[in-house]
Amino acid sequence: MSESFVIWGDVCHSLGPDKLECVQGAYLVCEDCFCSGLFSELPERYAGLPVEDCRGLLVLPGLTDLHVHAAQFAYRGTGMDWELLEWLERCAFPEESRFADTDYAARAYARFVEDMRRGPNTRACVFASAHTEATLLLMDMLEASGLACMVGRVSMDRDAPEGLRERDAQWAAAETRHWLELCRGRYERTQPIITPRFIPSCSDALLEALGGIRREYGLPVQSHLSENRSEVELVRRLQPEAGFYGAAYDRYGLFGGEGCRTVMAHCVLSEAEELELIRARGVYIAHCPASNMNVSSGIAPVRRFLDMGLHTGLGSDVAGGTLTSIFRAMADAIQVSKLRWRLVDDGLRALTAPEAFYLGTAGGGELFNTGSFEPGREFDAIVLDEGRYAPERPGGLPERLERCIYLSDDRDIVRKYVRGRRLF
Ligand code: GUN
Ligand code: FE
Repeated sequence: MSESFVIWGDVCHSLGPDKLECVQGAYLVCEDCFCSGLFSELPERYAGLPVEDCRGLLVLPGLTDLHVHAAQFAYRGTGMDWELLEWLERCAFPEESRFADTDYAARAYARFVEDMRRGPNTRACVFASAHTEATLLLMDMLEASGLACMVGRVSMDRDAPEGLRERDAQWAAAETRHWLELCRGRYERTQPIITPRFIPSCSDALLEALGGIRREYGLPVQSHLSENRSEVELVRRLQPEAGFYGAAYDRYGLFGGEGCRTVMAHCVLSEAEELELIRARGVYIAHCPASNMNVSSGIAPVRRFLDMGLHTGLGSDVAGGTLTSIFRAMADAIQVSKLRWRLVDDGLRALTAPEAFYLGTAGGGELFNTGSFEPGREFDAIVLDEGRYAPERPGGLPERLERCIYLSDDRDIVRKYVRGRRLF
């Protein structure tokens, strides 16, 4: 399908952590679902394309949520007095068990998908639950919404209640293959992603089987890494021979490298050796500041990630986090980085607004070849009307962008495009 047009508006996007480009009254060209560039004057060769008049409105790349649990959406905002491992047992696992009932799954996922469709995120790496039928239902709904997501059926064969825990590694592997076969040829925008929940939920046999399936199907991987102190200690006991947490995935070919795009959520407690492996393997870090506060995990050293040149983006980690908007994650990332700088390590400077904007757009979006308006990126955009905030706009585009990070919500989004298609 050919999706070619021009948007005429006030545009901001990131070309790197410290390279914010802002152009007032710019022409943004989309050709066949890809971005062809951003121009102050419309080049003659595009004169025949339809122009969408967004003058005075703020045009931004779509945001990417690198880590979100769709099957936890329904209990957001509850259970926040527990630390990670207790929270999983008391809140996350019981809720996810309910997705064995596809009728419940349909009702719960409908709310998640509508929230995502209406919000600023255009891409997401999504955890479903351990149920094949419900996972396919979620993928069907996301596909129909027009968003472009990676979705994982969650693999877990130990240390969880019956009904959620898979019978054994062999059964889990067979069910994962069955799910992947059902996905084949079914979606244009929705992609399966191999999803071992985290090391404490996965036997060695399951990790080995998932590594084999991943290679065979050429799929990406997502999981959790070095999130919380008690979790990291548990992993050390479960996999003493791995040396460190990330190596426990790497042993089974589930940690980046050639042809294995990988997202690891959190990395709050990753030490030098683990960060080096993340860099060597090109693993993406999903920084999830709201979740890290809520389940008392701490504050990830994002400045170090940026200084090391690691692929880094933002995640809502709903329901560890409470809101899906990655604008909220940008504000949280800035604020927790200030506390970290003041209280933990004054050698790591706080994040700036343009840096947080980079993380939530180009940083995470790179995984999907989107997130900026550089030519060749898939065209995702949101258009915001800031009229609700004040009778007049502040002067410059950087100020307008900063205010959107802190203030904007779904009411301000007047248009949304994913891969060149307008959703509303
Ligand atoms: N680690 C394993 N599972 C989960 C989960 O559902 N949420 C978070 N935040 N961490 C996890
Ligand atoms: Fe998570």
